[in-house]
Amino acid sequence: MTPTEHSLASLTITRPDDWHLHLRDGAAMAAVLPATARQFARAIVMPNLRPPITSAAAAAAYRGRILAALPAGSDFTPLMTIYLTDSLAADEIARAAEAGVVAVKLYPAGATTHSDAGVTDIRHTWPVLEAMQRAGLPLLVHGEVTDPAVDIFDREAVFIDRVMVPLRRDFPELKVVFEHITTKEAAQYVAQAGAHTAATITAHHLLYNRNAIFLGGLRPHYYCLPVLKRELHRQALVAAATSGSDRFFLGTDSAPHAAALKEASVCGAGCFTALSALELYAEAFEAAGALAQLEGFASHHGPAFYGLPRNLGTVTLARQAWALPETLAFGETVLKPLRGGETLAWRQLD
Ligand code: DOR
Ligand code: ZN
Repeated sequence: MTPTEHSLASLTITRPDDWHLHLRDGAAMAAVLPATARQFARAIVMPNLRPPITSAAAAAAYRGRILAALPAGSDFTPLMTIYLTDSLAADEIARAAEAGVVAVKLYPAGATTHSDAGVTDIRHTWPVLEAMQRAGLPLLVHGEVTDPAVDIFDREAVFIDRVMVPLRRDFPELKVVFEHITTKEAAQYVAQAGAHTAATITAHHLLYNRNAIFLGGLRPHYYCLPVLKRELHRQALVAAATSGSDRFFLGTDSAPHAAALKEASVCGAGCFTALSALELYAEAFEAAGALAQLEGFASHHGPAFYGLPRNLGTVTLARQAWALPETLAFGETVLKPLRGGETLAWRQLD
């Protein structure tokens, strides 16, 4: 850490965006949306609802529900996505682009929460990928193989060889975001894959390695997919995020689950970080002595990749201790934020 950073009492950056977010729907969405709308000007909203958002019309209707649930006076803009399936028709891509959909999400079937309608073999989606390449619509990839013979900690690295490399070869002009990368292999792959490939990185993958899941007992709120990896991978992610490379940008993957479903015999994958996302990223960048790189990562690199303007205005983070609430009302139930009940060093000022 440099002496200047050590004494930094506040940090003002261009208003940031969240390039990977789960909002759910209905009362659950209404409960979590204000947190994101407070921190970010825009967010890419994942389509893994039940049933998934698989058409331009469904995405437009979902956007309408999000806008209707926003706190009064909020100028937050949800950026909509559709969910790729084996049977998505290629002509839906033109309709989606027309309706303002910004990207299409690839979930390998069975890879994660609400992914059962996902793609069983990427070759089934070739006509759609061709249409996306033509339309300039990015593909957002959950990059894990689902082959049960592959160890869960290796699923991302194996995905690079089995899916990513062939995909890049077959669709060299397609914009691809390798979402929520968790490994040194993925960071290295993206860094050398050319201008059409980028990656999002979550705050929790920058702050924690897999020991966090097992610290003194099983900690379900640290379980997400792709699962946290070894320390050497965390360090590689921090190096990528703080490198200044515009291929890496902020995507929280904040994923709300009712606390009762996390603290259960089968725990759903997902960490909820939307209440304190910027603070957690600031903590990770500060620990790396790289607070000066936070603005590029959070506010500049994402719009550049998506071909969107940077936000006007700024947000300020102050070094001001505060206690993150232990729970948040979540429809009829509650959810538990990652680090809930703990004191955070940075605080976003209103
Ligand atoms: O941890 C995760 N939670 N990873 C995902 O890919 C999906 C997400 C969710 O929707 O809960
Ligand atoms: Zn996600």
